[in-house]
Amino acid sequence: MSIYALANQKGGVGKTTTAVNLAACLAEAGERTLLIDLDPQANATSGLGESANGTSSFDLLDGASAVELATRTRFSNLELIPARHDLAGAAAELAHRGDAERYLAQALRGTSDRYRFVFLDCPPTLGALTVNALAAADRVLVPVQAEYYALEGVAQILGSIEAVRARLNPRLTIAGLLLTMVDGRTRLAADVGNELEKHFGPLLFKTRVPRSIRIAEAPSHGLPVIAYDRRSAGADAYWKAAMELVERS
Ligand SMILES: Nc1ncnc2c1ncn2[C@@H]1O[C@H](COP(=O)(O)OP(=O)(O)OP(=O)(O)O)[C@@H](O)[C@H]1O
Ligand SMILES: [Mg+2]
Repeated sequence: MSIYALANQKGGVGKTTTAVNLAACLAEAGERTLLIDLDPQANATSGLGESANGTSSFDLLDGASAVELATRTRFSNLELIPARHDLAGAAAELAHRGDAERYLAQALRGTSDRYRFVFLDCPPTLGALTVNALAAADRVLVPVQAEYYALEGVAQILGSIEAVRARLNPRLTIAGLLLTMVDGRTRLAADVGNELEKHFGPLLFKTRVPRSIRIAEAPSHGLPVIAYDRRSAGADAYWKAAMELVERS
């Protein structure tokens, strides 16, 4: 079992899309999978067609355990702990408590007996929620948008990972960098891919996720892309990325 944090301080790089779609692919492949939405925007929750009516990831920061809070989704093998918008307040309040960075790690105890993969969808800031996620995770998966400033974002998140490793979680490793929203027709996408490969070599996933209308449309139907349009290039890419993750795990 491994706990993966999807993290990158840069906004809109595909963290949530990657969390939802990798989780859905692995669940479909028969792996018991838990997705935890740690972003007050709750996009991972709505992306699976769910909402938080009762308990939510807020409760993880309040002493509840993930095993208790996880609920089934419409997809077999895939469980979810949804987010509510009030998570933003919880994050601010956390800062005033003692040992504030380890709440999530505590709450995730026991998940290893139940799940093969746990994904934590982080917000685009290095606030209390992301730090809790990095303190609780085994591995960080960094989605990188194929654009000019991508490398700066990667350098930032790698620095944060290093800091968390030194201070809170020595076993934290990098699962890899996944290039997303790749527009195959542009020179820029190829250049960014080459740069990342040069700097990070095997850490870069071989699979590159293309920019795809189907991937962008799927959440508005509350579906991962493999359920929305199984034969699309986007579904194929996320399936391959999921299999690559299994190989690397
Ligand atoms: N491969 C793709 N092709 C087309 N659109 C995509 C792709 N991946 C993500 N998107 C779209 O780009 C936007 C940002 O993606 P997403 O929400 O996954 O990023 P994020 O890093 O989680 O953002 P935030 O930092 O706000 O949490 C969304 O509207 C999403 O549907
Ligand atoms: Mg997101």
